[in-house]
Amino acid sequence: MKQKILCMLREADTYVSGQELCGQLGVSRTAVWKVIGQLKEEGYEIEAVKNRGYRITSIPDVMTAAEIESRLKTKIMGRCCICYQETDSTNNRARDAGEKDGVHGMLFAAERQSAGKGRRGRAWDSPGGSSIYMSILLRPDIRPAKAPMLTLVMGLSAAEGIKETTGVDAKIKWPNDIVADGKKICGILTEMVTEIEYINYVVIGVGINVNQESFPEGLEGKATSLRIAGGRTFGRAEIIAAVLKAFEKNYELFLEAGDLSQLRARYDRLLVNLGRDVRVLEPGNEYEARAKGISDEGELIVTLSDGKERHVFSGEVSVRGIYGYV
Ligand code: BTN
Repeated sequence: MKQKILCMLREADTYVSGQELCGQLGVSRTAVWKVIGQLKEEGYEIEAVKNRGYRITSIPDVMTAAEIESRLKTKIMGRCCICYQETDSTNNRARDAGEKDGVHGMLFAAERQSAGKGRRGRAWDSPGGSSIYMSILLRPDIRPAKAPMLTLVMGLSAAEGIKETTGVDAKIKWPNDIVADGKKICGILTEMVTEIEYINYVVIGVGINVNQESFPEGLEGKATSLRIAGGRTFGRAEIIAAVLKAFEKNYELFLEAGDLSQLRARYDRLLVNLGRDVRVLEPGNEYEARAKGISDEGELIVTLSDGKERHVFSGEVSVRGIYGYV
């Protein structure tokens, strides 16, 4: 009910009468009044005027289930949403749900993480107030070998959702970092639990730097935020909703084809490495090549100096620009 009230108030340009809220939601005036009180406590500014009703005048940037759900335009992704003020890692919460009866598309988000996880066993710095930390639980009916492609599906969706809501020229650094102005704004960590032929569940965790004004020494040269790149602050729930909307559509296209063939052109258009020389760092082997785009399976296709083509698998490999991160 809270999310519906939020939605109705936000979408109206004027006052919404208590009667209209009660009628649409099939609840009493007291119930509406209680929810309005809760919203005010959470930081929403809501005017209540006799004989006119309620009008929302200011929306705080909160990571709550009601705020996120009230903005969702999806059928499945994020429709069941759990938000924490603090948790160790939203990926861990999604994994717990995966082990139990967590449903496909369930979303876990947090204001801060005490033990945020990055790729390759690194930590993901997760202070509160300015970032998105979210993880989605999936139960895809696909072969385990295809699951790594889901990370690219999310990479594309994150870049598209970010671009749509903020206007920031977000690009993809293969396979799934999102960058702006040559620095990282978003990282993705996929974890899965599988049997030989069967996926129990997949968790895709997404961390987006939204409203940071600066970064600690050491990260400064590598990381940026949407605020720094876009020159203003952004509401986090709106970005989450846009990323999930893009993900739902792209996920369907991925399932339909069984690979990335229907997403490849859009992915390549956003690929920061496209047409650039890159350094491929494989365990025990480093070489330079020119990036041509991705294959239907999500490998990076590169051309070597002798004109031969190679497909780079994302697993153990990292790709850098010749002169730096991109
Ligand atoms: C990377 O190293 O680029 C991946 C970073 C992924 C961070 C996100 S934040 C939400 C989710 N929970 C985690 O502990 N990690 C992912």
